[in-house]
Amino acid sequence: MVKVLSVFGTRPETIKMAPLIKELETRSEIESIVCVTGQHRQMLDQVLKAFDIHPDYDLNIMKPGQTLSGITEVILQKMKDVLEATTPDIVLVHGDTSTAFATALSAFYHKIPVGHVEAGLRTYNKYSPYPEEINRQFISLVAEMNFAPTQQSRQHLLDEGKAPDTIFVTGNTAIDALRLTVRPDYEDEITRWAAGSRLIVLTAHRRENLGDPMRGMFRAIRRICEKYQDVKVVYPVHLNPVVAEVAGAVFGDMDSVRLIQPLEVVEFHNLLAKSYMILTDSGGIQEEAPSLHKPVIVLRDTTERPEGVQAGTLRLAGTKENDIYNMINTLLCDPAQYDAMCRAENPYGDGQASARIADAIIRQYNS
Ligand code: UD1
Ligand code: UDP
Repeated sequence: MVKVLSVFGTRPETIKMAPLIKELETRSEIESIVCVTGQHRQMLDQVLKAFDIHPDYDLNIMKPGQTLSGITEVILQKMKDVLEATTPDIVLVHGDTSTAFATALSAFYHKIPVGHVEAGLRTYNKYSPYPEEINRQFISLVAEMNFAPTQQSRQHLLDEGKAPDTIFVTGNTAIDALRLTVRPDYEDEITRWAAGSRLIVLTAHRRENLGDPMRGMFRAIRRICEKYQDVKVVYPVHLNPVVAEVAGAVFGDMDSVRLIQPLEVVEFHNLLAKSYMILTDSGGIQEEAPSLHKPVIVLRDTTERPEGVQAGTLRLAGTKENDIYNMINTLLCDPAQYDAMCRAENPYGDGQASARIADAIIRQYNS
């Protein structure tokens, strides 16, 4: 029996770990233990509920205005007890958050092997995304098993000297999650509100975009709504109060823009599936949208998801107001470019990533 401890704490990690947790639970060779850090609270609980996951441990660390040092410090302190109580054969972490970083560091201190889900993504720009790029690079230093979503992410790990037999190309578990959530007949109040319009879904929350870059992004989108009467925007605003403040200041008086609470994941995935276009600085949405054949304008200076850009489904707009305005405007008035983006192939896998990860762990520890 392989004892697998999976640790996550924010919304995106939970969405992408959920299908894997479900898969691990079906395997008789695996004892699956789940620990959430609670780096996010409400946004984490929404996802746990949607996927019916009941953690064995909840570190419940979230504080308003939490800092990177604060999150890391408290996870390091609390994770020690969880690792000592559970003595896992392997600890699974996901992606690039402070939860993933501090958990990997803690496992390393206890000389417990780390498996990294969604390994090998890189910008090689240490401040973009910040601090996620360095979190990812650090986790790669300590991980014994690297679950790379694409050949390109595998290549990064090889270039950095990782042994080939530690890398498993699996696809991204985000696509597995979509298979559990998207329904063709979905309808809700927002999709009814937007009927007959071109519905743009907006999300923005990145730490490096807080303040002026975010204000500029939002102003560009405001100008687009003022120009196109048939465009409506829905923005489920991240619970970080700094984000909500800027969103309220720029969009508060607009009828064509709806600022709403974070959506539960099933609602959000179906909203993406019904949208015309997506504007985002999110990481995960850049993986989901290609699978749903929706064009994405990425509101960031860099992306660690170049596969989507190469496939033609993502365009990197940067963070300057006029650049963003021009890119959205082009897609709204050029159907040929819009259609080409919708037709792009999804480079992030076939929805079977979780099964491949479970297989690899069983092979590694049962042989
Ligand atoms: C974190 C991750 C980021 C990921 C993002 C997903 C790090 C360093 N950053 O950033 O990689 O893209 O999550 O959303 O790990 N808050 C709530 N309730 C919630 C969630 C957040 O009130 O359910 C508020 C709190 O005031 C919290 C603040 O948002 O202090 C920021 O949360 P935090 O996890 O520190 O940063 P994110 O920007 O969410
Ligand atoms: N998401 C959600 N509800 C929302 C907005 C986003 O469920 O209101 C999902 C989205 O589908 C994706 C994940 O949250 O799976 C992305 O999370 P976020 O943008 O917070 O983080 P990132 O991916 O940038 O790390």
